[in-house]
This record gives sequence, C-alpha cells and structure tokens, in this order.
Amino acid sequence: MSPALVLALATIPAVLGLQLPGGVGKLPALGWNSWNAYGCDIDETRILQAANAMKDKGFQAAGYEYVNSDDCWSQMSGRDAVTHQLLPNFTKFPEGIQGTANKVHDLGFKFGIYSSAGTMTCGRYPGSIGYEAIDAETFASWGVDYLKYDNCFPPEEWYDDCLSCEPDPSFSPTGIVNGTCSNSTPPVHHYSFDRPIPICADGWPVDGINYTTKFTALKFRIMGNALLAQNRTILYSLCEWGVDLPWTWANGTGQSWRMSNDINPSWTRILQILNQNSFLSDYADFYGHNDADMLEVGNGNLTNAEVRTHFSLWAMMKSPLLIGTDVTKLSDHNIGVLQNKALLAFNQDPVYGKPAAPYKWGINPDWTYNTTFPAQYWSGASSNGTMVALFNPLNQTVKMTADYKEIPELDAKGCYRVMDIWDNTDLGRKKKKVTVNVGPHDTAVLLFKNSC
Ligand SMILES: *[C@@H]1O[C@H](CO)[C@@H](O)[C@H](O)[C@H]1NC(C)=O
Ligand SMILES: *[C@@H]1O[C@H](CO)[C@@H](O)[C@H](O)[C@H]1NC(C)=O
Ligand SMILES: *[C@@H]1O[C@H](CO)[C@@H](O)[C@H](O)[C@H]1NC(C)=O
Ligand SMILES: *[C@@H]1O[C@H](CO)[C@@H](O)[C@H](O)[C@H]1NC(C)=O
Ligand SMILES: *[C@@H]1O[C@H](CO)[C@@H](O)[C@H](O)[C@H]1NC(C)=O
Ligand SMILES: *[C@@H]1O[C@H](CO)[C@@H](O)[C@H](O)[C@H]1NC(C)=O
Ligand SMILES: *[C@@H]1O[C@H](CO)[C@@H](O)[C@H](O)[C@H]1NC(C)=O
Ligand SMILES: *[C@@H]1O[C@H](CO)[C@@H](O)[C@H](O)[C@H]1NC(C)=O
Ligand SMILES: *[C@@H]1O[C@H](CO)[C@@H](O)[C@H](O)[C@H]1NC(C)=O
Repeated sequence: MSPALVLALATIPAVLGLQLPGGVGKLPALGWNSWNAYGCDIDETRILQAANAMKDKGFQAAGYEYVNSDDCWSQMSGRDAVTHQLLPNFTKFPEGIQGTANKVHDLGFKFGIYSSAGTMTCGRYPGSIGYEAIDAETFASWGVDYLKYDNCFPPEEWYDDCLSCEPDPSFSPTGIVNGTCSNSTPPVHHYSFDRPIPICADGWPVDGINYTTKFTALKFRIMGNALLAQNRTILYSLCEWGVDLPWTWANGTGQSWRMSNDINPSWTRILQILNQNSFLSDYADFYGHNDADMLEVGNGNLTNAEVRTHFSLWAMMKSPLLIGTDVTKLSDHNIGVLQNKALLAFNQDPVYGKPAAPYKWGINPDWTYNTTFPAQYWSGASSNGTMVALFNPLNQTVKMTADYKEIPELDAKGCYRVMDIWDNTDLGRKKKKVTVNVGPHDTAVLLFKNSC
C-alpha cells in the first residue's frame, strides 16, 4: 500500500469503538497463544504446560493475562448433529474445552479460543459462518474470555474479490460496487494478502467502495454482535490479515485487528510487518489495536538484537503481545526481553492510548514504503515521558541520534533526563540531542523524562 493511500485514509473519521465492561480490551492483550509454538499439534497438556511456565517464570506477575488455544482444538468430522455445537477433540482435551478453561482460570489466567469466519478454519476444522450465535453461546458457556476469529474458507457468496459482479441480493449491506479510480485507471486486485481486494493501481482506495459495507466487515460484525449478546465479556480479536483495511472500520467491531498476513520467525518477515504497520499508528487507540501478529521471540534463528527490535517495536506500536513459543525453553535473554518493564509499561499505559509513530524514516525519505528499510526513528508519549526507538536495519553498528527538534513530543530547547531502556542505565541530563551506538539489526530505546 502506498503512503498516498494511508494519507487519504487518514481523513476518514474515527469509527465509533466499543468499550467492553471492566476495561477489557482497552489495552493491548498480553498473553500466550499455541500457534507459533505448536501449530495444530496441541492438547491440554501443552496448554497447561504453557500456563504453568508463564506463572513460574514471572510472566503472570509481569502482566501477561491470557492463555489461548489456536486452531485444531475441535473435531474435524463436524458439529453435534442435534445441537449443531462445535465439539472438542476429547483425545486432546479429555474434559473438553471447558475443563481446560477451568484449569487455566485456576492458575489465574484468562482463556482464549479460535474459530474462522468461513465454512472451515484454516486447519480445515468446522468454521463458524452461519453458526455465529450457537458458537458464541458455546464459547461463553465454556468460560472463554477471548476469541481469535480467522478469515479462512468463506463461502463464495461472501467473497470480496469481484470488481463488477452483482451483489447477492440476499445479503445486506451489499459487498461490492463497481469502482472508479481518481487517476482513471481501472481498479486492480491487490494480491499482497491471501485474498485479493479491489484497490486502485496507484494504491488509492477505489472511489465508490465503502470498505465498511463489504462482506468481510459484515462477516466479522456478525460474530462480534453474537459475542456481545452473551452474558460474558469476551475480547474479540479479528484475524482477517488486513484485508479490506480493517483499521478503518474494526474499532466498531472488536478490540484488535490483524493488519498483515501471518508472521514467521524470520527477520525478513518482521521487517515487512513493521513497514506495513508504520503507516497505521493513527488508527489505534484505547479499545482498538493494530495487531502486528504474535511474537516469534524464542523461535527460529533470530539474534538477540533482532529479538530486541521485534519486541521493542511490537510493544511501542501497542500491538497485542502474545508469546508464541515453548515457554519452558525460553533463554534468560529472551525472558528478560519479554519482561522488559519499561516497554510493557508503555504498551499498557492506562493514560496514553496512542501507539508510537515514526517521526523520521532514516535511510529512506519519510513515508517510503520499503520492506527491507522500514521507518527507523519512532516516538510516543507515555505517563513517564517520551519513549524513542532508534532502529538499525544495517549489518554494521552505526551511531544514531535522537535530535529533540525532530521529535514531536520533545521541546527542542528542553533538557531531559534520559534512560536507556535496554541497558537499564541512566544517561543523565541531556540537552538538544542524544547519540548512541546501535548494533546490527538492534534497536536502542530511550525514555526522555522532563526533569532538568
Ligand atoms: C476506538 O474506540 C474507542 C472506544 O470508543 C475510542 O476510545 C478510541 O479513541 C477509538 N480509536 C480511534 C483511533 O478513534
Ligand atoms: C483427535 O486428535 C487426535 C490427535 O491428533 C486424532 O488422532 C483424532 O483423530 C482426533 N479425533 C477427532 C474425533 O477428531
Ligand atoms: C457493474 O458493472 C457491470 C458491468 O459494467 C454492470 O453490468 C453492472 O450493472 C454494474 N453494477 C453496479 C452495482 O453498478
Ligand atoms: C460507509 O458505510 C457505513 C455503514 O453503512 C456508513 O456509516 C459510512 O458513513 C459509510 N462511509 C462513507 C465514506 O460513505
Ligand atoms: C449473567 O452472569 C452473572 C454472573 O455470572 C449472573 O449473576 C447473572 O445472573 C447472569 N445474567 C443473566 C441474565 O443470565
Ligand atoms: C536455523 O539455522 C539452522 C542452521 O543454520 C537451520 O538448519 C534452520 O533451518 C534454521 N531455522 C529456521 C527456523 O530458520
Ligand atoms: C512509570 O514508572 C514507574 C516506576 O518505574 C512504573 O511503575 C510504571 O509502570 C511506569 N509507567 C509507564 C506508563 O511507563
Ligand atoms: C529499499 O530501500 C533501500 C535503501 O534505500 C534501497 O536500496 C532498496 O532498493 C529499496 N527497495 C525497494 C524495493 O525499493
Ligand atoms: C546483511 O547481510 C545479509 C546476509 O549476508 C544480506 O542478505 C543482507 O542484504 C545484508 N543487509 C544489508 C542491509 O546490507
């Protein structure tokens, strides 16, 4: 997507959001999810092992709250023939999902589950489309606190990938209108996500398409409304991969929305998602979070520096932070990263809802869409001062400068007490600018307190 698209969308007024009772979803969710660690190979033993390790290793005390099962918990063969309820795989979950949820609750965590807005989940288990009311009621009765709702296998009549076909009259509001583009080129399909979406060749949205009224948004609203109808507060986490620009409408539907396709444990992929999300800071605030996908800390061959960058920026973008690894095998380094107090406090700030945003790109000109050199200079306000991230995409150590006159939250003539968040050192009182060495693929995080 081009910066022009993002700037055009910035003029769209904020979508009225939902405020769940008890402040649920006000701040990004913190927790653990089974997918990045185990894929489909899950059972109660693994989920309880994660919950116990999250407790024993200090994650619960650090604020991590949810323990979530991803896909593959149900019976592939289908729903109960009489009640049409989803059925747990009793080999994997001997006392059902309710039994596992009870045990997770007994450990002091909330419990999350997964489904898809289609006929099947991505792992080809029964999906929820057409059964939203039954499934929401089932999840509530099992004691579920969080639903991750995926976007696999929608029936054809729910596709949003058709530019000029007639909408199916049985659905309302209609999904597709014929579109025009301001530069007179015809709309094209944008294939950077799993499913094509109509978009203009120059990256602008198609005039005449109201993404809020499209089938994808409607599918996700139906489940959202089904959850709201339950006598149980269930955080609603949309996983539609950024299709149909959810940041423009999902604040009225759920508490977070994935803004990209899936993460994997590679540096390349982390940079791609960082680049995409660097254009979306304006769309997030309390109760509505850009979800940059679950953490890969502990997975693959990420270096310590790459892990610091991944966590620093995911926390500062106020993404939900869901650990996605075997917690029992986390290194001390990675435990320290995931429990960094200042970054978790920024992510969970009860007073400042806005995520950090880039104030300068760095190697590339500002607003450059580039998947290998995303924005390098980020800042955001917090209760304890201004947090600044300096990210080095290069393969060698460089000096990077936080120059007060470039940072919107700082006074160019001010004097600040500066903390280095990763080194946990007090850099003292500084005027005008602070320069630090940043290693290859690493990110320096500085907290500027106004106290000179
Ligand atoms: C999303 O909705 C919540 C709750 O109404 C509101 O506080 C927040 O400001 C909204 N987000 C944006 C970006 O407008
Ligand atoms: C339950 O999961 C096990 C292990 O993956 C599998 O062998 C079995 O076929 C599943 N049972 C049902 C009813 O889906
Ligand atoms: C969309 O375009 C097709 C072909 O040009 C036309 O037949 C149809 O009436 C248009 N549909 C709408 C809803 O404007
Ligand atoms: C898009 O549709 C929604 C729902 O019908 C409506 O509230 C909103 O005003 C529309 N936006 C535009 C730009 O027409
Ligand atoms: C809703 O749940 C609460 C607490 O579990 C319970 O006290 C209340 O009776 C329930 N209300 C209805 C309408 O079922
Ligand atoms: C990590 O590196 C090893 C050795 O270079 C390689 O075999 C393995 O596939 C890598 N793992 C991932 C997830 O990239
Ligand atoms: C501010 O600092 C205090 C003391 O270190 C800490 O307890 C709190 O979580 C911090 N809050 C934020 C939003 O940074
Ligand atoms: C991304 O930015 C780098 C640094 O400016 C540049 O060398 C590279 O060609 C850019 N990539 C693309 C696809 O434009
Ligand atoms: C860093 O090194 C890797 C591996 O040698 C190479 O693929 C990559 O292009 C280099 N990146 C930069 C920014 O020079």
